[in-house]
Amino acid sequence: MAVRTLVVACALFLGMCVVINGGPTETTHAYCKIVWLLGLSCDRVNMAIVTQIKAMGSYKLGSVTPSLVQANHTSAVGQIESVNFTMIPTVMSMGCHLEGTSVSAFWFSLFDNGTNYCNLRNVIQGSGLTKAPGFVEFTNEWLCLGVGLSACKS
Ligand SMILES: *[C@@H]1O[C@H](CO)[C@@H](O)[C@H](O)[C@H]1NC(C)=O
Ligand SMILES: *[C@@H]1O[C@H](CO)[C@@H](O)[C@H](O)[C@H]1NC(C)=O
Ligand SMILES: *[C@@H]1O[C@H](CO)[C@@H](O)[C@H](O)[C@H]1NC(C)=O
Repeated sequence: MAVRTLVVACALFLGMCVVINGGPTETTHAYCKIVWLLGLSCDRVNMAIVTQIKAMGSYKLGSVTPSLVQANHTSAVGQIESVNFTMIPTVMSMGCHLEGTSVSAFWFSLFDNGTNYCNLRNVIQGSGLTKAPGFVEFTNEWLCLGVGLSACKS
């Protein structure tokens, strides 16, 4: 019960933390940041993400460390986005705090209809992590341009 209350409180206050952490410094590029909480170890989360990215033809896997997975995504129109997944173990619940960021390479994609959101969301959805215990997703229009417009084809 106490743990559950904490998780809910954390989810509610996360927006504040994320905003304090800083949004994009480069505002001329379309940008998306999403935070997820999962009741799985970061090792398992990392493995699921790497496996999923390798299975998706439109992604090119970059460097992988226990706390950071980098990739590039090429969308249908040939535009390239850089994608990062950062994992931080949560002490209280033995789970994983996962942050995804996606940035478009070119200024003209500022209004990207949620492309950057979908780049991140499709990986998490495809990997099955959305069904992990305690799964919570947090983002909003300030952190993730076009999130309200997006209709991801996964
Ligand atoms: C991703 O794109 C950036 C910028 O074009 C490039 O520097 C980097 O090497 C690419 N990484 C991969 C894994 O292709
Ligand atoms: C991904 O992480 C690298 C290394 O910390 C950083 O230089 C880069 O800007 C990040 N890219 C995104 C899309 O957040
Ligand atoms: C966004 O959606 C609108 C309306 O569907 C479309 O005209 C436009 O080309 C799209 N932009 C991008 C970058 O996909």
